[in-house]
Amino acid sequence: MPLKGIVLAGGTGSRLFPLTMVTSKQLLPVYDKPMIYYPLSVLMQAGIRDILIISTPLDLPRFEMLLGDGSAFGVRLSYAEQKAPNGLAEAFIIGREFLSGSPVAMILGDNIFAGHGLRKRLVEAAGNAEKGRATIFGYYVDDPERFGIVEFDGSGRVVSIEEKPEKPKSNYCVTGLYFYDGNASDMAASLKPSRRGELEITDLNRLYLEKGLLNVEILGQGFTWLDTGTHESLADATLFVKTMETHQHRKIGCLEEIAFINGWISRSELEAVADRLGSSQYGQYLRAVLDGRYIDITRRKP
Ligand code: G1P
Repeated sequence: MPLKGIVLAGGTGSRLFPLTMVTSKQLLPVYDKPMIYYPLSVLMQAGIRDILIISTPLDLPRFEMLLGDGSAFGVRLSYAEQKAPNGLAEAFIIGREFLSGSPVAMILGDNIFAGHGLRKRLVEAAGNAEKGRATIFGYYVDDPERFGIVEFDGSGRVVSIEEKPEKPKSNYCVTGLYFYDGNASDMAASLKPSRRGELEITDLNRLYLEKGLLNVEILGQGFTWLDTGTHESLADATLFVKTMETHQHRKIGCLEEIAFINGWISRSELEAVADRLGSSQYGQYLRAVLDGRYIDITRRKP
């Protein structure tokens, strides 16, 4: 069964007040596009076309206004509410009907991934999920107390995963991108709320670990992962995207370009979006993609 995708874009964004007093964190700009474009682009690079966006009752209509049914970038979008911040693992309970037993990739709406070879790593993780294995990604951080943390033994085997530990056992954090087999909803439903009253994704990962079904893939040199939950990391993300896009002449998280390369939208569909975006820099970029100015166009699936 092909994978389905979930973008979890909930929360009150309180760590970013006053920026998020009247808008959702995941709609804030990260340089030249709304934040949610970046996680969506990751699912699309994994080859996923059926995607559920989960957000608060207040914010969900705004995501719908921005992204519609997804046809502008070749995917099918559905929307669902998370009524209260009951934890990341609740996404699989909210999404149970949507998933109906499919393997799934879930990504947090404030996570940005970039790097050469990312697409290949994503496609591999998707393949493993179809075969019944879960995959999460580890990334070296300087502030491990803020994240889910993986502990390895001397031979590199995963020993434990802890959520926001006071005494972190390593500097490898679990990024907000999770691939699971078709049992994710059932497994999530078996979890008990943590002390802070949430269904923790870390507890779900631990269940897969205990069953011997968890791959932890390290994103090492050449990869950048950013969560954008604080003012500092949001500013870092904007500067990162600006620098990369300016010097590599390629956009990160350009949904229409990815859809075009994947063969999910036609040339005339891409032209229509470019026209709609007018003279914006983003619109001009899409026109450059259409002109074949970028090498990747040769990889476009017929
Ligand atoms: C969540 C997860 C944590 C993970 C992090 C990645 O934390 O609970 O395990 O490392 O996302 O962004 P949150 O950002 O919700 O505090």
